[in-house]
Amino acid sequence: MPIRTRIFLNTLGILLLGMGMAAILSWYVVEQLFLNTQRENLLSQARLSATTLQGQPIPVSSEPYAQTANAQPGIHTHLLEEQDAIVLALPNEADIASSRLEYRDGLNENLYARPEIDSALNGTPATAIHRVDDQRVLYAAAPIYSETGQISGIVYIASPLAPSGLPVSVVLQLLGALLVAIVLAFAAGTLLARRIARPLEQLAQAARSVAAGNLMQQVPIDKNIKELHSLGESFNYMTGSLQKSDETKNVFIANVTHELRTPLTVIKGTIETLEDGALDDTEGRGPLLSSMQRETERLIRLVNELLVLTRADAGALQLDLRALDLAELVRARCEGLSRLAAPRGIELTVEAREQATVRGDADRLSQVLDNILDNAIRHSPDNAPISILITKEGREVRCSVSDRGKGIAPKHLAFIFDRFYRADASRNRQTGGTGLGLAIVRALITAQGGRVAAESEPGAGATITFWLPTGP
Ligand SMILES: Nc1ncnc2c1ncn2[C@@H]1O[C@H](COP(=O)(O)OP(=O)(O)OP(=O)(O)O)[C@@H](O)[C@H]1O
Ligand SMILES: [Mg+2]
Repeated sequence: MPIRTRIFLNTLGILLLGMGMAAILSWYVVEQLFLNTQRENLLSQARLSATTLQGQPIPVSSEPYAQTANAQPGIHTHLLEEQDAIVLALPNEADIASSRLEYRDGLNENLYARPEIDSALNGTPATAIHRVDDQRVLYAAAPIYSETGQISGIVYIASPLAPSGLPVSVVLQLLGALLVAIVLAFAAGTLLARRIARPLEQLAQAARSVAAGNLMQQVPIDKNIKELHSLGESFNYMTGSLQKSDETKNVFIANVTHELRTPLTVIKGTIETLEDGALDDTEGRGPLLSSMQRETERLIRLVNELLVLTRADAGALQLDLRALDLAELVRARCEGLSRLAAPRGIELTVEAREQATVRGDADRLSQVLDNILDNAIRHSPDNAPISILITKEGREVRCSVSDRGKGIAPKHLAFIFDRFYRADASRNRQTGGTGLGLAIVRALITAQGGRVAAESEPGAGATITFWLPTGP
C-alpha cells in the first residue's frame, strides 16, 4: 500500500474516532444543557403559576386527572391539595381559571409518591422526568401558599420531551456539524498524506535515479518536519559526496592513464627506433635499451604503488604487525639511502631519546621511510643536513623527518598527501616522481593505526611527521 494511502487512512481513522467521541460527548453535554434549561423553564412556570394563585382559594373541578391530556397542548398544570389532586390544563395563562378541575375520586396515589410532588409539599419546588406511554415527560411541581402561609396546593406542570432528548432542529445542527467535521477530516487526511508522502516520494524517485547512475540528484528540503528535513539533507549530502568521489575517481583514472602512457610511449618509440635499424648498431643501441629498461622499471614501480593504494582502499593490505624498534629501522633505511645523500654531502642524523618500540609491519614501514627520506633528500640543497627525531608521546611513538630545503607553500601543505599531487611545478613527470609517495605513506601509516602530518616554513625546510601506536 503506498505511504500516501496509508497515512490518509490512518489520519482519517484517528480523526473520525476522535470526532465520534467528541460528538458523543457534545451530544451528551448539549442534551444535559438543554434538559437543564427545560427544567428551569418549567420550574419557573410552575413557580409563576403558584405565585399567581397565592392566597386564593383553590378552585376545584370534578373532571378526573388524565395523563393522556399531557400529550397536548404540551404544558398542563396539576393543582394538588394536600389530600386532593387538582388538575389544571394550562395552555396559556388565560386558561388557568377555566381549566381548573377537581380531582377527588380515584386519586392517583402514585402522584403523591412522586419525589417532585413530595418535595413541593415540603416547600421546595422540584422537577423530575417520568415515562408516560413510552414517552419521556418532564414534570415540575411548585407549592402554592395560602394567606396564612400554609401550603394550600401544588402547581404541577408537565412537558413532553423529544424522543432523542433534543429538539429536531438541534439534532439537525449537531448532525450538520458532524458532517462538516467529517469533510474536514477527509481534507486534513488528504493534506497530511500529501505533506508527508510527497517528500518521501521525491526521495524514492531521486534514489532510483542515483541507482540508475545519475548522481546529480538533489531533493528539495522540507523545512517543517524535522525528520524529513534531516532525511533530505542527508540524501543531498550523500549524493554530493557520491559526486565528489566519482569526480575523484575520474581524476585518479585520468592521472593513472597519463602516468602509464608516458613510459609506454617512450618504450614504443624506442622499439620503433630499434626496428628501424638501431638494433644492429651495437654502440647506439645501448642507451636505447637502458632507456627502455628505465621506463619499464618506472612502469613496474607505478603499477606496484597503485596496487598498494588500491589494496589499502579495500582494507586488503596484508600487514605483518609485530613489535619493532623504530630507531633501528630508521637507521637502517638512512644507511640504505646514503647512496643518494652522500654524493651530495647530505648527512642524515637520527636522534632517538628513548626506547621506541612500535607495532608495525617492517617492510611497509621501510617503504614509508624510503618515501619520506627520498623526498627530503630530493628537496635538500647540497650539504644540508636532514634530521630524524624519534620521541614517545603517550601511547604513540612520533617520528619526524626535517630537512632544510625550500619547504612547502601553505597552499600546498594540505594536499601533499593526496594522490598524484605535486607541489613543485618545476619538477615534471620525467625528472620527478608521480606524486604517489606521500599518498602511500598516509595509506600505510593509517593501515597500521597511525596518522601523518606535514609542517613547513617556506624557505626554511619541511617536516613530515608520523605517529604509530607503541608496541605490545
Ligand atoms: N621534504 C619536502 N620538501 C619540499 N616539498 C616536498 C617535500 N616532500 C614532499 N614535498 C612536495 O610534496 C609533493 C608530493 O610528494 P610525493 O612524495 O607524494 O610525490 P613525489 O615525490 O612528487 O613523487 P613520488 O614520491 O611518487 O616519486 C612533492 O611533489 C613535493 O612538491
Ligand atoms: Mg616522493
